[in-house]
Amino acid sequence: MQKSFTLVDHPLVQHKLTLMRDKTRPTANFRQLLREIALLLAYEVTRDLPTELREVETPLETMQAPMLSGKKLCFVSVLRAGNGLLDGMLDLIPSARVGHIGLYRDPDTLEAIEYYYKVPHDINERQVIVVDPMLATANSVSAAITRLKKDQPKKIKFVCLLAAPEGVAAFAQAHPDVPVYTAALDRQLNDHGYILPGLGDAGDRIYGTR
Ligand code: PRP
Ligand code: URA
Repeated sequence: MQKSFTLVDHPLVQHKLTLMRDKTRPTANFRQLLREIALLLAYEVTRDLPTELREVETPLETMQAPMLSGKKLCFVSVLRAGNGLLDGMLDLIPSARVGHIGLYRDPDTLEAIEYYYKVPHDINERQVIVVDPMLATANSVSAAITRLKKDQPKKIKFVCLLAAPEGVAAFAQAHPDVPVYTAALDRQLNDHGYILPGLGDAGDRIYGTR
């Protein structure tokens, strides 16, 4: 069982996601919509960040007011499509640290192949939010988080845009301790591991490579 699974069904998120699914949506517009949704998802996934009271002088008096506490958050983007979500998250939390994990799916086996790994040196003192728009078989994000766990971040959450039921089940087996946030849970995977109805290949649609 997944520790927690959150479907972000806010009307703005759902409206923008429907626009993104449209196969005639131009690349620039697709990327902008993803950025806008990412900001809204970031708002949801950071709801429980710890705060502490600090003294502040308003023009009228001194008060104790809440500020974020602890080390800055770290986003970890699963390349390359993760970067499409990352941009909107950084719009909301510009001081966050950022790590990157490069993975691609072997088109025949659908296994994730790692080609790059770089995260902040003190990641063991930070909360991490892993971002990748698509949770299909879950091979990619499961491999990314298995690698990340070796560096022992304080806490890990995962944010995606679309999830397939097969991927949610596989991820729950691999990393039941990692909360998942998604904007939609679609119907199923096709024989090539694509999400149905989905939105196609996220990386290609973000960067216009096909
Ligand atoms: C896409 C997507 C995920 C992965 C999801 O990446 O961004 O990382 O597929 O599929 P899975 O859950 O079955 O592993 P892709 O391999 O197409 O690489 P790209 O981001 O470089 O285009
Ligand atoms: N990766 C994508 O980009 N899209 C899918 O539907 C599945 C995996």
